[in-house]
Amino acid sequence: MRISKQEFSRRRKALMALMEPNSIAILPAAPERIRNRDTEYPYRQDSDFFYLSGFPEAGAVLVLLPQRQHGEYVLFCREKDRHKEIWDGHRSGPEGACRRFGADDAFPVDDIDDILPGLIEGRERLYYAMGRDSAFDQRVMTWVNTIRAQVSSGAMPPGEFLDLDHFLHDMRLYKSAAELRVMREVAALSAAAHRRAMQACRAGMYEYQLEAELHHEFAMAGARYPAYNTIVGSGNNSCVLHYVDNSARLRDGDLVLIDAGGELEHYAADITRTFPVNGKFTREQRTLYELCLRAQQAAIAAIKPGNHWNLPHEVSVRVITEGLLQLGLLKGELPALIEAQAYRDFYMHRIGHWLGMDVHDVGDYKVGGQWRVLEPGMCMTVEPGIYISPDNDKVAKKWRGIGIRIEDDVAVTRQGCEVLSAAAPKTVADIEALMAASAAA
Ligand code: GLY
Ligand code: MN
Ligand code: MN
Repeated sequence: MRISKQEFSRRRKALMALMEPNSIAILPAAPERIRNRDTEYPYRQDSDFFYLSGFPEAGAVLVLLPQRQHGEYVLFCREKDRHKEIWDGHRSGPEGACRRFGADDAFPVDDIDDILPGLIEGRERLYYAMGRDSAFDQRVMTWVNTIRAQVSSGAMPPGEFLDLDHFLHDMRLYKSAAELRVMREVAALSAAAHRRAMQACRAGMYEYQLEAELHHEFAMAGARYPAYNTIVGSGNNSCVLHYVDNSARLRDGDLVLIDAGGELEHYAADITRTFPVNGKFTREQRTLYELCLRAQQAAIAAIKPGNHWNLPHEVSVRVITEGLLQLGLLKGELPALIEAQAYRDFYMHRIGHWLGMDVHDVGDYKVGGQWRVLEPGMCMTVEPGIYISPDNDKVAKKWRGIGIRIEDDVAVTRQGCEVLSAAAPKTVADIEALMAASAAA
């Protein structure tokens, strides 16, 4: 594992130091989900749960009890079971949870109803993220009610229910050196997958075949699953922001937009590249592409400690609005167009989002009503886009149906920032050179 046992332990200690005195935190593992009769979706552990435990199995519950004499970190998990393990694979069991995952105490999850109320009892505050999993919410209330039913015998139920998200998600926003190494690795292997798609692309192929090239490259590099549903949109489909049909045939003369990133040890990459199916941009495609790229480069240049979160977005809006004005796609005065958000017909999303274990990662974007100031260790995407709807009859025909997004993964450093996904080509010259070389091969 790329994140050490010591780092998981440090995270739990840091979180417990932020918790109120005499409190308890309860976090469930992600539930398994049925895909169709008897088969499940590939299991993906809950990010908060994994961040604190590194424990990959379903059917587990993590409990933190700061200052508990008999151990602060308790894990409930599935018991070892020879028969079940023959069918469904290895289980750590409570003994493995202590030995391999650093739990101070571990119990079979089947005994949780008998044990957990006793751990909650006497703690004044209970941290639990209510509302994510209603079945588990119900169980938490049952445990608390078990204690409430015993107040006449002196039992003390928790009086305050608090959300752990604020502390935990603030911790997750700042990536450690080890996390940054994983983020760099997953961005690099995902960038390699985008290169592979550019090299493999030929008119007449189907969008899903490019998707297959990307997924092959992810999996061969150890990122068995993509971090989110891969988007391969060619022609007009490039204007559909979350297009995932990926079923159309690639046509000579069209652009194709690919938004795809692998997931490695629960960390995501999120990269978009847009390139011509035949390897050569047309004049209009190139004009809009270079405008989008200028906006992206200007936004990346605005990422450094001390600048606020929204500055790269504002920079991208200015560059894109100015460019659309020069091309006659917008008409009017620059400040008024920005004020009226006229660019939103063409650039209808924001510059990006935090990136980490979740592709749209946790962490507040505002603090005390103000945009958050960037600090080293924060990771984000930078993904301006320009999409000219095929039925936008306010613009000349030659522009219609062109959709472009360029998305990189960026870590804030002490001096400025590091582009983690830089190995995916993005200048017109680099894309055309790579594609020409593979066409000749
Ligand atoms: N792939 C999702 C996003 O770019 O936000
Ligand atoms: Mn994306
Ligand atoms: Mn993104």
